[in-house]
Amino acid sequence: MRLSADAIFISPEKNITYSLAMAHMHEVARDDMGLGHPGHDGMYGVMTAAFNGNGWSEEQHAIAECNEFSSYLYRVGVENHKACIHSDEYKRSMLKAMMVSISSELWNGREYNFMAQYIERKLLSMNPLLADRSKDLREAKSYVIGHAGQVENRHGLHALAAAQAYATSWELKFDTAALGEVMLDYNKRVGIAFRALYEVVG
Ligand SMILES: [Fe+2]
Repeated sequence: MRLSADAIFISPEKNITYSLAMAHMHEVARDDMGLGHPGHDGMYGVMTAAFNGNGWSEEQHAIAECNEFSSYLYRVGVENHKACIHSDEYKRSMLKAMMVSISSELWNGREYNFMAQYIERKLLSMNPLLADRSKDLREAKSYVIGHAGQVENRHGLHALAAAQAYATSWELKFDTAALGEVMLDYNKRVGIAFRALYEVVG
């Protein structure tokens, strides 16, 4: 959203690389909610409904570590959004957000690939009626399937291409060491959230 909102301020000579960055990020954002949305993932409600567990989204089941991770994603998405778009701090926060997107897409893809092989059986064990309702079953599976396999793999590659194009359009160095640091930091943060989740449900 920030990329599109800023597009009008981009000078003509930067248009091609900037549009490329936008087109690549669009491929990620059209399937996922993206950074900068409180709560991050609007699909949570779909997943809880699939298991007839809408109550899971109630406050008493909130896990502080998971909420902290969600807040981190929100903060990254909105960081420096009020700064001048031609300022260094603004551009760097945009690049950082794209690097977090790369980390997120690659990390999630592998997690969801693992779950995808079990999800149909699990859903049918919870609700056998879904076996005769193919549309409902497909929707129930969508949360996991939509984040797994080639879809998610492509998101990771699109986010990477977007970050590179964005860096090129502003003549910023695309620093692979910095990307490595962002990815490790993401892994640590998501690990803390999943560990806390495991402690509760494991
Ligand atoms: Fe994705």
